[in-house]
Amino acid sequence: MAQSEEHATKLLQAQTQVFNQIFSFINSMSLKCAIELSIPDIIHNYGQPIPLSQLISSLPIHPSKSGDIDRLMRVLTHSNFFIVTKNELEVMYELTDASRLLLKDHPFSMTSMLHVILGPIMSKPWHQLSNWYKNEDPSPFYTENNGIEFWDYAGHDPEFNHLFNEAMACETRMASTVVMGKCKGVFQGLESLVDVGGGIGTMSKAIAKSFPNIECIVFDLPHVVDGLQGSENFKYVAGDMFESIPPTQSILLKGVLHDWNDEECLKILKKCKEAIKSKGKEGKVIIIDAVMGNEKADNESFEAQLFYDLEMMVLVNGKERNEKEWSKLFFSAGFNNYKITHGLGFKSLIEVFP
Ligand SMILES: C[S@@+](CC[C@H](N)C(=O)[O-])C[C@H]1O[C@@H](n2cnc3c(N)ncnc32)[C@H](O)[C@@H]1O
Repeated sequence: MAQSEEHATKLLQAQTQVFNQIFSFINSMSLKCAIELSIPDIIHNYGQPIPLSQLISSLPIHPSKSGDIDRLMRVLTHSNFFIVTKNELEVMYELTDASRLLLKDHPFSMTSMLHVILGPIMSKPWHQLSNWYKNEDPSPFYTENNGIEFWDYAGHDPEFNHLFNEAMACETRMASTVVMGKCKGVFQGLESLVDVGGGIGTMSKAIAKSFPNIECIVFDLPHVVDGLQGSENFKYVAGDMFESIPPTQSILLKGVLHDWNDEECLKILKKCKEAIKSKGKEGKVIIIDAVMGNEKADNESFEAQLFYDLEMMVLVNGKERNEKEWSKLFFSAGFNNYKITHGLGFKSLIEVFP
């Protein structure tokens, strides 16, 4: 190949890479559209591979758009959300494991997660990212919302609060099943547990059910837990973890510390230590969060950690941490030892001992 020809080929490849990166949002927006049109549910309810014409006639779309559905399906088939097969007449679509998680009634449905992450409240702050690098604001969310922080915003917008809490719960439903399957021993022998920042209590409910001898408390802000009903060994308590945490033998922090910077995490961990100490028993803090770049993480998991890290930076000035960063926090907060169990997807479970 002549040198100039080789140069042109490389240039065109680079241009394609730039186009594909710019157009990455098309993956998420196409998926959002498919969910809004209930495409996974329609395919699922059909009970067998659905012919394109059948799919089109089941959709709530204007007749003038009938010819455009296969274009949406082509992109989502390319990104492995649907499988396409052909008979002599027409193409047919089936679900994949990923699109099954987007069925409305799937026990681990991720539809509310999709709606909250791609909705305007959580996506608009991304347009402030470069401004945030140039100003002193704590997060692009704060810049976008004229000085309001994420958790205050949730406290003042009941609709967003409900959607966000539901989205957290839908992720935690799957996590609690996996944790109860893979790491049940972590909770064995405990007498009490406070799920700090426990949201609407999805994880604690699973723990309280599997271990009737553990007294579980879900501890979260008033706008999250007020009005929620507990059960025999499972209670809701409203409060602020920066002020004080109810005395307990053990504390769960799931998806909480990655919402905060190092200084704030140190404060939370010190409050946890106080709460455990005041119970006078040998206790521990159980953290479920990502451990960035651990050797057990495959490429997909690493990508999810990278994305989550920036999402935390944009919304709440939080971050994902590697083992060195985690251990520095634990020892600075006065803890003595820790043990990491990997293998919860892109997250890990860390037991931290006083
Ligand atoms: C990312 S959510 C995680 C929810 C739950 N642990 C889960 O994994 O499903 C973080 C939680 O921390 C709570 N939170 C934020 N600030 C708090 C504070 N100062 N005191 C107690 N909880 C707080 C939020 O209301 C939210 O429910």
